[in-house]
Amino acid sequence: MSDKNSITPLNVDEIYTFFTGKSDDELKKLASDLTLAVHGKDVLLRGLIEYSNYCTQDCLYCGIRAENDKITRYRLNEEQLLQLVNDGFAAGFRTFVLQGGEDPVFDVKTQCRIVEKIKTSTNGECAVTLSSGMLKRDELLQLKSAGADRYLLRFETSDEKNYSYLKCGESLSKRLGMLSDLKELDYQVGSGFMTGLPGETDEILIKNLQICSEFNFDMVGIGPFIPNPDTPLGNLTGENINIALKCVSMLRLALPFAHIPATTAAGSIDQTGREKMIEHGANVLMPNLTPVSVKANYLLYPGKICLDESGQQCVGCMSLRMKSIGRNISFNRGDALRLNH
Ligand code: 5AD
Ligand code: FES
Repeated sequence: MSDKNSITPLNVDEIYTFFTGKSDDELKKLASDLTLAVHGKDVLLRGLIEYSNYCTQDCLYCGIRAENDKITRYRLNEEQLLQLVNDGFAAGFRTFVLQGGEDPVFDVKTQCRIVEKIKTSTNGECAVTLSSGMLKRDELLQLKSAGADRYLLRFETSDEKNYSYLKCGESLSKRLGMLSDLKELDYQVGSGFMTGLPGETDEILIKNLQICSEFNFDMVGIGPFIPNPDTPLGNLTGENINIALKCVSMLRLALPFAHIPATTAAGSIDQTGREKMIEHGANVLMPNLTPVSVKANYLLYPGKICLDESGQQCVGCMSLRMKSIGRNISFNRGDALRLNH
């Protein structure tokens, strides 16, 4: 693997010139070579647990938005959640991502208690990533003190107006402010965006990539927007996967050391979408460990894959899929690479 000093990330201006001037194939080749040089053939696994689909927010694109009364709401209790972590730990996972809607029942005190219990029951050996939406700085501090290592919060789009439209009046600067707080509080910070949102332009996509570069995120997830019939954007037609793949390649060139997942949304609109994302510069997969009995209710978009498979079945499936493209799955914690240098 490469010496860190010999690798130069694209700067903000180069993000523009590469995006507009290079073909998708050229970008793919550059990104793929860089990924192998920095991350090798290992693809890191993170165990995803979707603990609640209750949400106070009403984002126009999202299937678990508060106003959607077509889905069955569920929340895992603390024992169920800990059991999933312990089973995952026994199976080899060393990173867990706890994701949920903005559910007032999972208040900060509860989340702190859960993080502490996870840390204790796994001898502090696994990394805990939270993804529970917007929180205040002092709440983030409490969670950090409880042991949370990482936080995921996509900014979704860099277009202020569109952000506010899609998220019912919320402000982009507030979201970016929370991402700054997370950095200052020394979290490993993940963010990202959707491609193919209504109103998207190349300028917006370039700005999205520039924001990722300026924040120097440790993790960045990109997924194609998939219209959900149970939402106000249900009548739109979704994009194909190509623009998401191009953005993954661009992102890899801008952030050589970042952890970039091959997202479930990519695998949902294209049978081999996750393999393609890996070949375009991604290096992470997130098997869904949520119990099969409730998994189907965490339906952000239609056609979501792996709803009938257990986490363990997905690990087997992912291993084969990765072998088919010359990669290996890895259970390493996969901390932010900046921490290892
Ligand atoms: N299509 C694709 N991705 C979606 N997300 C939410 N709704 C959709 C959808 N309809 C993504 C958002 C969110 C992440 C958890 O899922 O980017 O941050
Ligand atoms: Fe879940 Fe293939 S990865 S079934």
